[in-house]
Amino acid sequence: MSSSPPQPAADPPAIDLPLPPPGTMGPPTQYGWLRRECPLAEVRLPIGATAWYATRYEDVRDLIADPRLIRPTINDWPPRPDRAADDEPGLITMMELNGPRHEALRRALAEPFSVRSVRRRLPRLRRTADGLLDDFTAAGQPGDLVGGFLEPFPLLAMCELVGIPYEDREYFLPRADAALGAMVTLDEGREVTSELREYIASLLDRKRREPADDVLTGLVHACGPGTLDGESVVTFGLSMLVAGYRTSTMFLADAVVALLTAPDRYARLRDDRGLLPGAVEELLRYIPVMNGVVVLQAVEDIELHDRRIRAGDAVLPVLASANRDERVFTDADRLDLCRAENPHLTFGRGAHNCIGAHLARAQMAVGLEALLDRFPRLRLAEGQEPAWDDESPSKSPLTLPVSWHATTAAAQGVGDPPERPRSHRPPPP
Ligand code: HEM
Repeated sequence: MSSSPPQPAADPPAIDLPLPPPGTMGPPTQYGWLRRECPLAEVRLPIGATAWYATRYEDVRDLIADPRLIRPTINDWPPRPDRAADDEPGLITMMELNGPRHEALRRALAEPFSVRSVRRRLPRLRRTADGLLDDFTAAGQPGDLVGGFLEPFPLLAMCELVGIPYEDREYFLPRADAALGAMVTLDEGREVTSELREYIASLLDRKRREPADDVLTGLVHACGPGTLDGESVVTFGLSMLVAGYRTSTMFLADAVVALLTAPDRYARLRDDRGLLPGAVEELLRYIPVMNGVVVLQAVEDIELHDRRIRAGDAVLPVLASANRDERVFTDADRLDLCRAENPHLTFGRGAHNCIGAHLARAQMAVGLEALLDRFPRLRLAEGQEPAWDDESPSKSPLTLPVSWHATTAAAQGVGDPPERPRSHRPPPP
């Protein structure tokens, strides 16, 4: 009887991009299996391209800081049939800058985005939150917390710090969406990008003439030969329009859902504010917004888990899956507001890690504390479900109807604490 020689194990077939279950923030149910059985999977993306999908903590941690992987521009990846090889680059953000220009920009931004600077801004951040909540409360309940607070708060906070007029949002928000969007043609994408560049350039002219206490003023005055160039500052401004607030909104909105959908979580934070800094870190770990949204491209072949990532291939290090890796986090799928060790990867690592991490933490701490002070009995509005965009890998509620007045039982003093006076004490970032 002849026996055939052993065959090398076939590569697992490509899978569809895992998505969070409908009507939830996620994470996708496949993460646990992928981490165990197929830590480097090939995924098919809805746009037709394929990419490598890395889900284990140590792989994600290493890949995101690996210099053999660059951040491709929106022109270079995903491949699009309407793109010619000699096309002008469209939207370039800070993430696609490299080398000395990127280093000069990072150096110039280190101080204004530092823990110290963010701490100094906490009282102002709190006034911003309270002002928005005044308007939100005045509009009556139930109210949509996303439109009334969770969306405008990070946008306003970024605008105040960076020096972008919040009043111009009707102009730049739709264009920023279009510049990023897969729904526009390359020509349309280039046109809105050029409008946004002109907008930032004219803003910088104004900062030269009328200096203000903001990041853009600091940058235009730091420009000079051999240091920072004006083009890099425009790139930074563009990055703020497309990436400086939306992720914070998503995290804040998911944080409120996570706190309100389990009976004691919101009340626990309300009654013990000392938990807030650790709770913010845990919410950043637990909330699965970063589901393969960081796209890298290999510039040389890389071997990992007996598979070969070839030069030119796209790689998605899935931060949200790394943050649920049971090899690193005990009881990883549980939101533990008192978790002690929390080396989450939510803000990335390496040369392109998030410059806004301290600001994002502060927005979350201040935003939550402002809500806890204002609405001790905040709850999801009865009979009105939050709306979710189920097509997207990164999810937060599009609307979040909430109520805040005492229920009849609570008004009679059953079960709920008395309303606390509004505190203006800013929490640490
Ligand atoms: C919870 C909120 C946020 C999260 C989870 C987040 C996450 C991230 C991650 C993972 C990266 C690294 C991407 C990569 O490696 O390619 C990044 C980069 C970046 N983030 Fe954030 N971010 C948040 C908020 C902010 C805010 C508030 C700002 C500024 C106002 C900001 C500005 C930036 C910039 C400019 C970069 C690019 C840095 C570079 O390329 O050198 N982010 N962010």
